[in-house]
Amino acid sequence: MIRTIAEIRDEAVGELSSERQQQLEQFLTPMPVAEQAASLFSYTNTPARILDLGAGTGILGAVTASRLVHGTRVVAIEQDQILAEYAKASLRQVCDDVRIINASVFDVLLEPEFTRVILNPPYKKIKPMIIPTAGGGVKVTNLYAVFLAIAIQALAEGGECVAIIPRSWMNGEYFKDFRKWMLAECSLDALVVYGSRQEHFKDMDILQEIMLLKVSKRPQTNRVLIYDDASPAMPLSEQHSIEVPLDSLLLGRDRILRVQQQDERLADFEPLCNRGMWVSTGKLVWFRNRDILSLTETADGYPLYWSDNQCGSVAKHPVECNRPQWVTEEVTNRNILLPAGSYCLVNRFSAKEQQRRIHASYIASPVNFAADNKLNYIHSGTSRTTVPLDDAVARGLTLWLSTSIIDEWYRQISGSTQVNATDLRQLPCPEKQQLMTLADLLPVEENLDLGKVDQVVGRLFSWTKMV
Ligand SMILES: C[S@@+](CC[C@H](N)C(=O)[O-])C[C@H]1O[C@@H](n2cnc3c(N)ncnc32)[C@H](O)[C@@H]1O
Repeated sequence: MIRTIAEIRDEAVGELSSERQQQLEQFLTPMPVAEQAASLFSYTNTPARILDLGAGTGILGAVTASRLVHGTRVVAIEQDQILAEYAKASLRQVCDDVRIINASVFDVLLEPEFTRVILNPPYKKIKPMIIPTAGGGVKVTNLYAVFLAIAIQALAEGGECVAIIPRSWMNGEYFKDFRKWMLAECSLDALVVYGSRQEHFKDMDILQEIMLLKVSKRPQTNRVLIYDDASPAMPLSEQHSIEVPLDSLLLGRDRILRVQQQDERLADFEPLCNRGMWVSTGKLVWFRNRDILSLTETADGYPLYWSDNQCGSVAKHPVECNRPQWVTEEVTNRNILLPAGSYCLVNRFSAKEQQRRIHASYIASPVNFAADNKLNYIHSGTSRTTVPLDDAVARGLTLWLSTSIIDEWYRQISGSTQVNATDLRQLPCPEKQQLMTLADLLPVEENLDLGKVDQVVGRLFSWTKMV
């Protein structure tokens, strides 16, 4: 029976029009992932009321229903008429009580009556919008967050929701409000993060890191079930998992979530923002300031740093690249310049495949300068004022951010290509005095030997495991 639902899905994949697929984000879930998603629901021997949002071929609702007792009801909402027909065919194989609603989820009024909600929504970015909630509304910037909020609000008391979504909601500024709302609204029960990016959606050309999330409408459970390196190749019950309290996964007021517990060697380190430092984003947005970019140095101009100026662990200026290396004097009227002094520059984007997700470079500028907004910079000020770091602190911090333990820490919380200032502020950090000691032990050079940095840091903090 299940094989037939898989065949219906595969047939529909072959018939998707590329225009419609792009427009409605029709990336259909393969059967192994659908089975893993449905396996996260608790077993119940009473009939369920299932909701499948953005149902596609109905594969998720059908696999969920096939595991439940007779008398279960499925409501599937799908905007695409052809897929809605496929959904009818799939769901009728496993359930007698099926209602297919061929409409947009935004045009359907749902009561909070469902005991099982399952979805693999569209992942599109949208203009920031407020979703109405009992508490007044929550700001979202992605369609999957809107679908998930609708799903959660359709849950009956005690109901469970499983979603196939990107990992991006777990960290960063954009999803901050959504995270807070969701964690207050329901219990976070399970997180399943796939080890490889493409393995599970091979025929769908999906490049984002995708995960399974299970939440339920009840007070927070004591333990969250975590699979931090799952594979769709075998049932989840045969894969490694851990159960940990939610608090051990949450970071700071922004409620950043990581998928593993923190390395115990970092236990004594406070977040960077508690060490008298702050992470900001470069203030120059090049396309809004085209008129002041300059290819040559002018008498009253200032240096401009891009990620191209990050030469290994030091920032250099000027460098040969195809970006203007100066801004004209006019910049002084635009609240863009940073005061002369020492800082640590950090990239804002990096891929999982890179040796280090965080690329830190020490900069000591004798003059005021501008930084492109594709760079973060760490300083001693606040969100409103920029104050340079003590020079030895800037060097020590650059070394600290180049360690493998910090790289592992960052990979645990970020599944996207962004390196967010919000996340960096929560990064475990030694005291300033310890950073200065570190700077005395090892010079910051362009071609820093990262193995050596690990050794020196390991010795300084007596981490025998790391040396
Ligand atoms: C990522 S696909 C997943 C389909 C199916 N749930 C699955 O797992 O295979 C998202 C589905 O949502 C549908 N969709 C997109 N926007 C929608 C909307 N506003 N209302 C209802 N369905 C929508 C698309 O047509 C597509 O079938």
